[in-house]
Order: sequence, then structure tokens, then C-alpha cells
Amino acid sequence: MTASEIRELLKWLTTDVISFGGGMPDPSTFPVEDIAKITAYVLETYPHAALQYSPTDGVPELRRELAKFVDTYAGIKAKPENVFITVGSQEALEIIGRLFIDPGDVVITENPTYIAALQSWRVYQPRLVGIPMDSQGMIVEKLEEAVKRLKAEGARIKYVYTIPTAQNPSGLTMSQDRRKHLLEVAERYDLLIVEDDPYSYFLFEPIQVTPLKALDRSDRVIYLSTASKIFAPGFRLGWVIANEELVSWFNLAKQALNINTTTFVQYIFMEGLRRNVVLNNLPRVRELYRKKRDAMLAALETHMPPGVSWTKPSGGMFIWATVPPHIDTRELLKVAITKYRVAFVPGHGFSVDQSLRNAMRLNFTYPTFEQIEEGIRRLSMAIKGA
Ligand SMILES: Cc1ncc(COP(=O)(O)O)c(C=O)c1O
Repeated sequence: MTASEIRELLKWLTTDVISFGGGMPDPSTFPVEDIAKITAYVLETYPHAALQYSPTDGVPELRRELAKFVDTYAGIKAKPENVFITVGSQEALEIIGRLFIDPGDVVITENPTYIAALQSWRVYQPRLVGIPMDSQGMIVEKLEEAVKRLKAEGARIKYVYTIPTAQNPSGLTMSQDRRKHLLEVAERYDLLIVEDDPYSYFLFEPIQVTPLKALDRSDRVIYLSTASKIFAPGFRLGWVIANEELVSWFNLAKQALNINTTTFVQYIFMEGLRRNVVLNNLPRVRELYRKKRDAMLAALETHMPPGVSWTKPSGGMFIWATVPPHIDTRELLKVAITKYRVAFVPGHGFSVDQSLRNAMRLNFTYPTFEQIEEGIRRLSMAIKGA
């Protein structure tokens, strides 16, 4: 095991450092008043059940509410038995690693991809294979080439991991045609797909996409989402949509991990869904994040020296920036924090082979508008000095 670069970084953050590091929501988006009312209501209405142990696969009423929510929100048809509740999506990623990976098994991901997914799976010693992306997301032709090559070598491909909408770290979204193509390739080579979807709630452009899970006719997609970005990350609540056999495997793995996701939190989120707190808040939060993305793009345009490029995220929380090849962003980070008082996450950890040395992930949802402008100015000074 190695320490998460993001967690390590947090140690250095003092109040005068502007951080583009973590993946935190803007705290002004937390539905504090709703949560206060709901908490009192839950304690009055279901005090015994809400404070008790609960089934490992989740509180049945929440599983029912989520089956409705994923249909209304994303067109995913699921029965309550297909819904499995986790301690955030991070626990689902950990369980997937536990269930599927034996040393040497192949796991295919976008490159770059979510740093903490790689971190949780590395423990199980997979062979990680990264597929390049363009503005439309993972290049499915490259995936097919890799799958052919790997199958010819006799490799055991366990699953393809994708964050198709407003990806972490790039902010890019896979087009609908490419999603269909990805599913065709998965059918042809009998691949399992893990679709991680924390960010489709925050698409800033009028892009028409549906989750892979909504297009999945052969039950080969395991879908993950979370309350972290749309309700409160401190709750640590996520959900998996999968076939019943997989749900029973998840159940076995989770029993030994933590018995159940916090029951009280499940009841609060269930009431939040019943009262439409999430759906009512989304338009306001999406608009705030779109403005913050635009502010960061404008600041990058104003301040960055030639040789620096960045993605234009269609949604989510992050911009992925590339600096000239002579700069190693791990080294740059030390100077950026100590001398310029600004932080980001270096690119290395987002690549399957640590090869993205001259890249960085920038978060635009947590900092204020003033911090976005000032922080990008400071970062550009650090880059100019490198
Ligand atoms: C792509 C992706 N997957 C999973 C997670 C984990 O989220 P949580 O455990 O808070 O649900 C995150 C959090 O930033 C993420 O960006």
C-alpha cells in the first residue's frame, strides 16, 4: 500500500494555501436546513430502526427509493434487489477489487483515471492497462486493439473501468455513439464494465448522454454512484446497480468489511430522496459549478505561459492541465506550496504506470471565485519559475 497523494497533500494545507487539490464540493451546496429537518423527522418517526444494525445490502426502503431515483434521473431500470448500498463509491471500488482481482489479472481503465480507484486495486496486484482518451472520452478502437492483443497473450481481463460522464480527472464526457460502440466491443469480447458515475449530475453543456447501464442489454455493467457530490460527502453513502448474483457477492464481501453502511445516514438520505431535496437543489449547484469552471478557464487563459494546455470540462469538478515536458509536477508541487501557497494534485498517480509526470489535476468547485483567480495566477508564477 502507498499513501494517497491527495491525503498526503492535505497535511500541508494551511489557511493561506489556495487548494485546487481535493475533490470537495462547495460547502454552500450542502442542504443543511433540509438535513436538520429530516434528521429530527427520522428520529421521531423511525428511532429504533434508524439507530439499529441494518441489512448488509442496505435499508430496504432506501433500495426502493434509489431504484426509482435512477430510473427518473438516468433511465436505469432496476429492481430494489439490484441496488446495493455502500460507504460511498470508494467502498464499491474496494469491494470490486476484492471480488475480481487475482494477481496478474488485467484491469483496463481510461488513462488518466481516478487516482483512488487505482490505489484501491493496486493492493490486489492487477496488471493495469490504460487506454488513451480524446475529447470524446476513451478511444474505443484502442480498447479493442488492446483487448485483442491481451486475449492473444492469454491474459485474464477482469473488467473495463470507465467514468464516462464528466470524467475525473479530465472533465471529459464520452459521446453517446462511443458508449454504444463500447458496449458492442464488450459484447463481442464478453467484457464486464464498471461504470463509475459521480458527476453526471453536473453536466454544463447540453450533451445528450445516457449511462452505459441504461443501454446495457446483457447485464454486463456494474453501475456506481454516490450521494457525495449531490447531498453531503461526509455522509459516506453510495450505491451500486448490478444483477442479483453480483449483489449477493457484494453482500458477502461487505459483511466482513463493516456489516452495514451507517443505518441513520441511509434513513436521512432516503427521506431526502422522498422530499426531492437532490433533484430540487441540482439546478442551482450545476449553475454554480458551471460559473466556477468558466472562472478557472478564464484565469488559465489570462495567466498561463505558452506551453501549458488544459481540458475544457463538459461537467464535473476538475480540469486536467499539461505543462511543458521538462517540468515534473511532483517537484513543482513542493515549490508551489512552500513558495507560492497554492496546491494541486500531480498527474503521476492518475496514470496506470505513473507516466503522466508533466500533468496536474485542478479542482474548481471548492475554492471561491477570488481564490480561483488568485490561485491560478500563483500557479502560473510557479510554472514560469520552474
Ligand atoms: C470517479 C470517482 N469515483 C469514486 C469517488 C468516491 O466517492 P465517494 O466515496 O465519496 O462516493 C470519487 C470521489 O471523488 C470519484 O471522483
